[in-house]
Amino acid sequence: MMKRTHMCGELRPDHVDQTATLAGWVNTYRDQGKGLIFVDLRDRDGLTQIVFDLEDVEPSVVEASRALRREDVIAVTGIVRRREGGVNMKLATGEIEVMAQHLEVLNKTETPPILPDDYEAEKIAEEKRLQYRYIDLRRPRMQHILRVRHRAMQVTRQYFTARGFMEIETPLLIKTTPEGARDFIVPSRAYPGKWYALPQSPQIFKQILMIGGCDRYLQICKCLRDEDPRADRQAEFTQIDLEMSFVSRDEILEVMGAFIPVLFKEVLGVDVGEAPVIPHREALDRWGSDKPDLRFGLELADISELAARTEFGVFRDALAKPDGVVKAIRVPGGAETLSRKKIDACDTVARAAGAGGLPWVKYTSEGFRSGISKFLDPIGADLKAQLGVEAGDLVFFAADARPVANAALGEVRLHLGGELDLVDPTLWKCLWVVDFPMFEWDSQQQRWQSSHHPFVMPREDQFDLLETDPGACVSSSYDYVINGAECASGSIRIHRQEIQNRVFQLLGLTETEARDKFGFLLEALTYGAPPHGGIAFGLDRLIMLMVGTTNIRDVIAFPKTQTGQDLMTGAPGDADPAQLAELHVRNVEA
Ligand code: AMO
Repeated sequence: MMKRTHMCGELRPDHVDQTATLAGWVNTYRDQGKGLIFVDLRDRDGLTQIVFDLEDVEPSVVEASRALRREDVIAVTGIVRRREGGVNMKLATGEIEVMAQHLEVLNKTETPPILPDDYEAEKIAEEKRLQYRYIDLRRPRMQHILRVRHRAMQVTRQYFTARGFMEIETPLLIKTTPEGARDFIVPSRAYPGKWYALPQSPQIFKQILMIGGCDRYLQICKCLRDEDPRADRQAEFTQIDLEMSFVSRDEILEVMGAFIPVLFKEVLGVDVGEAPVIPHREALDRWGSDKPDLRFGLELADISELAARTEFGVFRDALAKPDGVVKAIRVPGGAETLSRKKIDACDTVARAAGAGGLPWVKYTSEGFRSGISKFLDPIGADLKAQLGVEAGDLVFFAADARPVANAALGEVRLHLGGELDLVDPTLWKCLWVVDFPMFEWDSQQQRWQSSHHPFVMPREDQFDLLETDPGACVSSSYDYVINGAECASGSIRIHRQEIQNRVFQLLGLTETEARDKFGFLLEALTYGAPPHGGIAFGLDRLIMLMVGTTNIRDVIAFPKTQTGQDLMTGAPGDADPAQLAELHVRNVEA
C-alpha cells in the first residue's frame, strides 16, 4: 500500500510542485469526457480535488480511474498544483489540486445505501442513517461533532487535573443507585436468582471515594437509566462526574462555575460570560421554569394585587385557591405580531401545561382591548404602569395556583421566544439555580420523595424543617443551566449518619430497607466521612449546545433510537437458551 503523506484537508499553495500521497473515499466522481477525470477525495479532515489526465497516466491507472465510483476507498499519489479551474472558496484546499500519477484501489464498495453528504443527510430517514452509521459517520458534520466532543473531554481532563482532581473509575456491575429512574439489571451466573444493577450514576461510589480519602474525584463515565429516550435524553449517556471534600456549596459553585467558560472558550472560542446564582423559587416566579432560557426577556410579572381589585371571575377564583396568583407576560408589539391564530396557539400551549385558559388583552391608543378588557377598567392605569405597557403591546394572563400559573406562562414564554424569533443564536446565557426544595409530595403514593436523590444535604439553616415542615425544607443542591438546558446537577451530601437516617425516615424507608439498599454507605458514614459535595455535567447536553443541535443522537457515535434500539447491531436481541439456562433465567410468554 502506498504510504500516505498528507491528509485530505491539508494541502495549500505552499505545497505546489511537491509529490503527495492521499488516501480516503471517493466523495464525487466526474468524467468530463475530455480526457480528464475529477475526483474529490475525502478523509476525516477534508476534501482534495484529484485530477486524472488520461493522456498522461499509465493505462492501468486510466482503466482503474474510469471504474471509480462514489465511496470506493483509494490511495492516490500525484503532484500538487494550483487549481486550473479557478479557486474553490468553499474548500480549505480550494486553491490546489493533485495531478494523479498513481492510483491504488484499496477497496471497491457495493452501491452505498446512503451517501455521507451533510446536505443529503437531512433528507434521509434517521433510522437509515443509524442502521448504516459507519457511512453516516464519514459526513463532515459528524466528524466535526466527534472532534468537538473529543476536544471537550481533553479540556475537561486538563482543567480538573490542574485543580487537583484525580480520574478514578467506578464499577459498572453494582447493587442499585438512587437516581430515581429504572435500573437495568444483569443476572448473576455464580449466584442463582441474584442480579447486578448497572449504575444510573456513580453517585454512591464517588461519595465513598471521598470517605476513602481521595479528596477530589473526576470521571467521564457512562450512566445507564432504563427510561424512554427523548430528544435530549438517552438511556445510556455520559456524565462529567465530580466530587470534592472539605468544601462549601459556594466553593463548589466557584470551581465548577469557572469550568464552563474555560470549556467553551477552549473548544468553541466563545465567551459565555458569568453565571448568576438564582434561587429556584425566583426562577419559577420570573421565567416559569427551573431551567430558564435567559437569552430573551418576556419575564413573568405577578399582578395578583391588581387582579384582586377586579370583578373578573377567572382572577378571583384563582386568588381564592391556596397559593393562588395572577401572573402576566407583556409581549412588546404583540398586538401586531400575534395574529388570532398565533394567540390561539399560545392558548393551546398554556392548556397543555395545565392552565384553564390564557386570557389576553391588546393595548392600543384607545386603551386595553379584548373580551376581558372591561374587567380591567378599574386597574387599567396601574396595570399599564406595573408592566410598562405601551401602545401595540399584548398581555397574556395566567390565573391559577402558583405552580400551574408559572408553568403555563413559562411554556407560553418559550413558545413565544421561538414564534417571534426572539432568541439571538450567537448569545450564551448561563445561570446557577440553587435552593431547590428537598422533597416533593407524591400524592399517588401519599409520601415524600427526594427532589433529587436521598443523599442531598438540607441547606445549613434548614435542618429543623426535616421534622416540622419537610415541604418547606430547602436543599443544598444546584443546577447549571445554559440557554435553557439543564447541563449539570449536584449538591452537598449528607456526611453524618444521623442526618441520613432522618432523611430516610422522612422518605418512608424503614431501617431494614435502608440498610438493605444502602447499608454499606450508612456504615461508611460512621467511619470518618468528610464533608463533601459534587456535581455531574451531562456531556452529551454540553456537546449538543456546542454544535447547535436539539437531537442528542447527533452527538453520540452509536446512539439508541427513540425506542431504545441499536439499529446497526440489532440490540436488544435474542439470547441463546443455553446462555439463559446458565444464568438461571427463563423467558416467559408475555
Ligand atoms: P442528574 O441525574 O441530575 O444527577 O444528572 C446530571 C446531569 O446529567 C444529564 N443527564 C442526562 N443526559 C442525557 N440523557 C439522560 N437520560 C440524562 N439524565 C441526566 C443532565 C443532568 O443535569 N449523581 C447526580 C449528580 C450529583 O449529584 O453529583 C446525577 O446523576 O445534564
